[in-house]
Amino acid sequence: MKTPVPVIAIDGPSGSGKGTIARRVAKSLGWHLLDSGALYRLVALSAGKAGVALDDVDGLARIAGALDVQFDSNANGSERIRLDGEDVTDEVRTEETGAGASRVAAIPAVRDELLARQRAFRQAPGLVADGRDMGTHVFSDAPLKIYLTASAEERARRRHKQLKDKGMDVSLAALSRDIEYRDQRDSERSVAPLRPAKDARILDSSGRSIEAVTQTVLDWVSEL
Ligand code: DC
Repeated sequence: MKTPVPVIAIDGPSGSGKGTIARRVAKSLGWHLLDSGALYRLVALSAGKAGVALDDVDGLARIAGALDVQFDSNANGSERIRLDGEDVTDEVRTEETGAGASRVAAIPAVRDELLARQRAFRQAPGLVADGRDMGTHVFSDAPLKIYLTASAEERARRRHKQLKDKGMDVSLAALSRDIEYRDQRDSERSVAPLRPAKDARILDSSGRSIEAVTQTVLDWVSEL
């Protein structure tokens, strides 16, 4: 029998450092990377551009099924995301798009439409996938599942710094509220809620450097 392409599933709440850690681990191993949150963000963004309301379930499912998206890296190694040929890299990361993503992500039909697209990222030599349901649902057979978390205060502080570095001015208090609200919606929804897979390893990144957390993941990979 053919051995399935290995997947490292990294799930966790907003600001836990999933994106950064997943990118570093993928780079270090030379594996593919799936930023599944970007797909939900792109559905929300595309809906806004097409004038489809965030409660129009059929319209959103159609958008999810027909997303024309390209993930490219440019010469200096930074990634660009294109939607219908338009560079939307910065728009994808705004808090507004994140809030829209959290709403569309609660719709089962949207999740179903994105499932095959996510699984198609599983290509040799391996995949590092980050999201909320990578280990519980999309890649439930992943040989390594990690639930990456950090205290709510630290997650808000990290997000705040990230946005400030991009020149965006958001209050820390407002960010903390948004993060709490988003965590609650992501964990309490009936479909694919945010929670650790039964066989996930819990990794708390509070007070630890990016390098140290990346190394812990790589150590676990080497045990596979
Ligand atoms: O990780 P992120 O902030 O880019 O995710 C945006 C939203 O998408 C987040 O509120 C939860 C949702 N999401 C999801 O439901 N399932 C995933 N696999 C990834 C993200």
